[in-house]
Amino acid sequence: DMVKVKVPASSANLGPGFDSIGVALNLYTEISMGFIEEGLLIEVSGEDYKEIETTENNLVYKAAKKVFEKTETQYEGLKIEIKNGIPIGSGLGSSAAAIIGGMLAANELAGGILTHKEILDLAASMEGHADNVAPALNGGLNVTVFDGNTTYYVKKELEEELKFIAFTPKKLLKTEIARNILPQKIDFKDAVFNTGRSSLLTAALFSGRYDLLKIASQDMLHQKYRSKLIPEMYACFEKALEAGAYSVFLSGAGPTIMAICPEEKVKRVVYEVSKVYIDRGIDYRVYKLHCE
Ligand code: HSE
Repeated sequence: DMVKVKVPASSANLGPGFDSIGVALNLYTEISMGFIEEGLLIEVSGEDYKEIETTENNLVYKAAKKVFEKTETQYEGLKIEIKNGIPIGSGLGSSAAAIIGGMLAANELAGGILTHKEILDLAASMEGHADNVAPALNGGLNVTVFDGNTTYYVKKELEEELKFIAFTPKKLLKTEIARNILPQKIDFKDAVFNTGRSSLLTAALFSGRYDLLKIASQDMLHQKYRSKLIPEMYACFEKALEAGAYSVFLSGAGPTIMAICPEEKVKRVVYEVSKVYIDRGIDYRVYKLHCE
C-alpha cells in the first residue's frame, strides 16, 4: 500500500531573516511512497520534473532513508511517486518540501514512530537551518532558530488576503552557488542593520503592521551579494514598491523575487515587475500565492 503526503512550498529569509524566518505558500508537491519487492523505483511528474533525480541521489529518497535508519525499519524495495508543483532551484523551498515529504511518508510507512518535532529536527539537520523545513512541515509563518540539534520556533498563520507574488525566472539557481557567493565576514554596521530589520519584521508580521514591512524587509546580509547572480533584482524591487507592494525581497537563495501586497495591488505589481523581465528578455513565471 502506498501512503500519500502533500507538502507546501515556502519562502525563506523575507529579507533580513537569513536562515531564520520562512513562510509556507500554497504551491504543493505530492509524494506517494510504498514498499515493493526489490529495488528503488522513482517516478516523477509535474513542474520541472526533468530536474528531479530518479536515482539514489533523489532528495525524497535520501530523506526517507534517514527515517528508515532512525526507526530501524527493514524493507526490500521502495517505490516513490513525486507529483511536483514547486519550481526547482528557484528559492521556493522545493528541497525542503522534498525532505519533509520524504520523511513524513517514510515515517508513516515505519508506523509513525517519529514525532512531529523529531521529523523537524531531522529535516533541519539535513538542511543546516529550519527556515524552509519548518514552514513546509508546520504551515504558516515560522520564526526559527536551529542550533545544530534542536529547532526552536514560533508559528503564526497569516491571513489569506495578504498576497505573496512570486516572480520566478526559468533559469534555475543552485542554493550552493547562491551561498558560496556570500562573504566570510561582514561589517558590524551591516549586522546591526539586520538585527533591527529582522526584529521589526517579526513584530510587524505578528501584529499585522504591514505598513512597516517596507523598512522591515530590508537586508544587508545576503541580497546585495546575490544580486550579482540575479542582475534584475534591484529593478524588480524598485518596480514592486512603486506599484504599491508592502515589501519585496529575494525568496530564499533566489532567483525568485517575492512581493507582499494587499489583494487590490496584485494586478499593478504583476504588471510593473513583469516589465523588468520582459525588457531584459528573461523567461519567467508568476505565482499569486498566500500563506497556507
Ligand atoms: N536561508 C537559505 C539561504 C534558504 O538564503 O541560503 C535556502 O536554503
